[in-house]
Amino acid sequence: MPQHFDVAPVDATFGAVVTNLKLANLDEPAFRELYATWLEHALLIFPGQFLTREQQIAFARRFGALEFEMAAISNVKSDGTLRREADNDDVVKILKGNMGWHADSTYMPLQAKGAVFSAKVVPSARGETGWADMRAAYDALDAAVRDRVERLSAYHSLHYSQAKAGFQHKDKKSEYSGYGLHDGPVPLRPLVKTHPETGRKSLLIGRHAHNIPGMEPEESERLLDGLVEFACQAPRTYHHSWKPGEAVIWDNRCLLHRAMPWDMTEPRIMWHSRIAGDPASEAAIN
Ligand code: OGA
Ligand code: MN
Repeated sequence: MPQHFDVAPVDATFGAVVTNLKLANLDEPAFRELYATWLEHALLIFPGQFLTREQQIAFARRFGALEFEMAAISNVKSDGTLRREADNDDVVKILKGNMGWHADSTYMPLQAKGAVFSAKVVPSARGETGWADMRAAYDALDAAVRDRVERLSAYHSLHYSQAKAGFQHKDKKSEYSGYGLHDGPVPLRPLVKTHPETGRKSLLIGRHAHNIPGMEPEESERLLDGLVEFACQAPRTYHHSWKPGEAVIWDNRCLLHRAMPWDMTEPRIMWHSRIAGDPASEAAIN
């Protein structure tokens, strides 16, 4: 039993709501306990935190170096007007791309360790975030499938996943930073990832994964699509309906996540602080 806060698991193989703590002023013993709780549950949800930008960045930094400090995941433009789905600009394409199950930055040389993610403005309905437990998915595989995937790897690319979903990026003077649409070598990653801190195995799949070496592209796509469909099912999924001021931290080394659709005539503003992976365990293998 934690000494510094309360933990209530959600109805899934992972995830817990953590209350009776203030993320903005956690002392070191409380943080050590929170870190251990995070490794166990993989997703922690913190109601009512209302972190400032500085507080969110400082909290995220306690988990490791940041890949980026704070990015708005939002359909509100800098002039305050809304992006409409029909605009189909590069930011809308990224927001809609996020609606497919994925892990963050697997398409970069270093997969992310995790993210601190918070809700600033939420739509009146929908716009949940879903997560799926790839540790439990790996454990639930048939022995024969498990043996097969243990020996396989896949390439990960945001160009690939955006094109497959119908969201090719063409706009040269886009407001989207182009993050992830890099033209370096396409990272290759094993389908089964061993967690560097818990030692648990998990499936490393999701929409960026494609072209398993040694397979025809169609066969590879069929296998990968089938694994995501199997993996991302109850009791291995949890979808969170947001309230403003809530924050979460997820472990990107063993969970997939996705945004759920919402009516884009309503604003949704989320803030994402991305924690960098460890080169010893989150680097691509090519
Ligand atoms: C992300 C992401 C999901 C959401 O920020 O990386 O996938 O619910 N967000 O906005
Ligand atoms: Mn994401």
